Amino acid sequence: MNPQDLDAYWMPFTANRQFKKAPRLFTKASGMHFWTDDGRQVLDGIAGLWCVNAGHARPKIVQAIQQQAAELDYAPPFQMAHPKAFELADKVSKLTPAGLDKIFFTNSGSESVDTALKMALAYHRVRGEGQRTRLIGRERGYHGVNFGGISVGGMVGNRKMFGMMLSGVDHIRHTHDAARNAFTIGQPEHGAEFAADLENLVALHDASTIAAVIVEPIAGSTGVLIPPKGYLNKLREICDKHGILLIFDEVITGFGRTGNAFAAQTFGVTPDMIVMAKGLTNGSAPMGAVAVKRSIHDTFMTGPEHLIEFFHGYTYSAHPLACAAGLGTLATYEEEGLLTRAQQLQGYFAEALHSLKGLPNVIDIRNTGLVGGIELQGLPGEPAKRAFNIFLDCYEKGVLIRTTGDTIALSPPLIIERQQIDQIIDTLRGAIQRAA
Ligand SMILES: Cc1ncc(COP(=O)(O)O)c(C=O)c1O
Repeated sequence: MNPQDLDAYWMPFTANRQFKKAPRLFTKASGMHFWTDDGRQVLDGIAGLWCVNAGHARPKIVQAIQQQAAELDYAPPFQMAHPKAFELADKVSKLTPAGLDKIFFTNSGSESVDTALKMALAYHRVRGEGQRTRLIGRERGYHGVNFGGISVGGMVGNRKMFGMMLSGVDHIRHTHDAARNAFTIGQPEHGAEFAADLENLVALHDASTIAAVIVEPIAGSTGVLIPPKGYLNKLREICDKHGILLIFDEVITGFGRTGNAFAAQTFGVTPDMIVMAKGLTNGSAPMGAVAVKRSIHDTFMTGPEHLIEFFHGYTYSAHPLACAAGLGTLATYEEEGLLTRAQQLQGYFAEALHSLKGLPNVIDIRNTGLVGGIELQGLPGEPAKRAFNIFLDCYEKGVLIRTTGDTIALSPPLIIERQQIDQIIDTLRGAIQRAA
């Protein structure tokens, strides 16, 4: 493309000037691969953006979207519906942990986060505890880019530019503890005690003012932070003790990433709500959802029956194309056993990933399921540059990875084969050496 053709598009979360000097364009994708506009094949090491869990252009999903576009392009979701919305909600509710069987649809992870936060506030109000307005997030949390999500989120770059955000939000500390846990394979031994921060906030604010706590079971966007053993259980206990709702943001961990449909199942801790998106449609159509405990939903079902119970929703909630894509996606996951496939591959993946230990500037490696993080010593005075150089190098060599700060994140499609894991790791090994 000519430089002037790139001018109008202000790209999201992108170094726009750098990109437009040397554009990276994909024009086709299939299975484990993308193809660039100049015809090069690139192995997808990050499932698009943690979303294409079944690999690209899967036939069931393609057909479902095509047929749906011709049959029913749109139906209003307020006071009206279409059958596939119910069908998909039912199928999703069978994947979520027992009890979380009410499904509210949105169009993204960010919208799902804000939906869950609003549900938590409204829930307490409906049951007569409207003074529970405080929301608790965690340092180094990423919960999308809307005002609710950045308020409970804990990434300085996403917060410092945008004013005061929601009031009455507080944060617990993140769990990353390289001094004690560096190069742990799987869940770290140390750090469950970080959950006690929530008790400190209860002591500071009083539980009667706190509506909900939101955490990612695995923090992805701040560098793949794996929960220490026992940490999530402790959070659950403290929430139960004080009547605080626990929300898991499973936008990246949902749909098989950790070896089960949800990380809640992998880590054996059931929250009150699960926020999801991405893998719900395999990235093929924008869609998110919040799975809610039936008891929370039922609390809203009071008052005159002709009145709306929860004043919230989007023009494109349960969009027919997204629902069709979701049904095609869940069918593909089921037929190919993809939601548990990470259990078979995680040992091989972990070994391959940890073989990078000892390379120049590699200061930590973290993993669970089919998620990997490789933390690098940054270039002096130039944070994030070494990792970005490695990203560019890998792309040139035909492998797509992702970086956040100076951490490289891997989250390949769940259909990946062992030799493709080797290709990703070998390419990375070369790039890390060249970046030394
Ligand atoms: C944990 C988490 N929550 C929320 C989001 C936001 O999702 P979206 O970009 O679909 O709004 C993301 C995106 O990566 C995420 O990783």
